[in-house]
Amino acid sequence: MRREIAEQADVIAGLGADPTQFREAAEEAKARGIRFVVFAGRGTSDNAAVYGEYLATILAGLPAGLAVPSAATLYRAQIDLRDCLVIGVSQSGETPDVAEYVANARQAGAFTVAITNAGDSALGRAADRTLVLGAGQERAVAATKTYTAQLGALALFWGAWVGDQSLLDALREAVPAALATAVRLEERIRRVAALLRDADRLIVTGRGYNFATALEIALKVKETCYVAAMPYSAADLRHGPIALVEPRYPILLLAMAGPTCSGMVELYEELCARSAQVVVVTDTDVDFRAAVETVRLGRVVPEPLSPLVAVVPGQLLALHLSLARGLDPDRPRSLRKITLTR
Ligand code: F6R
Repeated sequence: MRREIAEQADVIAGLGADPTQFREAAEEAKARGIRFVVFAGRGTSDNAAVYGEYLATILAGLPAGLAVPSAATLYRAQIDLRDCLVIGVSQSGETPDVAEYVANARQAGAFTVAITNAGDSALGRAADRTLVLGAGQERAVAATKTYTAQLGALALFWGAWVGDQSLLDALREAVPAALATAVRLEERIRRVAALLRDADRLIVTGRGYNFATALEIALKVKETCYVAAMPYSAADLRHGPIALVEPRYPILLLAMAGPTCSGMVELYEELCARSAQVVVVTDTDVDFRAAVETVRLGRVVPEPLSPLVAVVPGQLLALHLSLARGLDPDRPRSLRKITLTR
């Protein structure tokens, strides 16, 4: 897991070096007059799908949502997917309900795209277009480099869709550089892990593009540390679950530059007023002096790409919290690399 976390800068640089497949797929999809986008994925790939929803909606102005796989695979619903783009996301390409959803969607009139690390897979064969991550084999059960590669692929696709050359350029250079810098935060994260070693719960919160980051960090912590980590959008947290927060409640708060930042700072203040134990991950220079630790991401990338970098401290936290608890992050109990769900 540690090695694959460190590989992410190279994986994204490799992906960004040649955006051709993403541009072609985006052009082909646009030519179909797409009106709605549906994303399908499970686990980490579902978290990447959430990021995709934000890109499609914010950048391309298209309504977007997550698939309901059981509607197709168990309820056999006839879903009218004309004028829809369906994007299936799966590292292995072998998650059965994702592949089946995409195969059905293609028959139901959707234009279908697969994003996968295994082009020759059930998902790859099901879709009209397959975008291959080229991340190299991922050995750790807990996905890391394929998650950032999925984010990179989605950003390249939607960056090409709207013709935003600055996003494509940043994926080639600024993001790999920021990933390489983020990996060097390991010592600081080890300190955070020591602080949280005996925690049995954790709230992870972010907003906007980084809601996906909160989902993914919470999943990694659950899988590798067996800590009940709950992800919340900052808005949802304030609508009820914040009642859980009592003194010393551990919180990981993502405060990234952009339109969500001032709300995250307000939430931070509210949580500190409740004497929660707040760890902040930020790429801003806001002074979070009441936080127990502030993890500063040294380099700022365009906000839509910030989830590729902001997830790294969370991946390192899952790794080091697992080790601090005497666990083996490479052997999470009762998990396999491919889970067969229908
Ligand atoms: C998380 C993890 C799982 C997978 C999920 C989907 O670290 O490994 O949650 O993300 O089983 O797998 P793929 O992406 O192969 O469809």
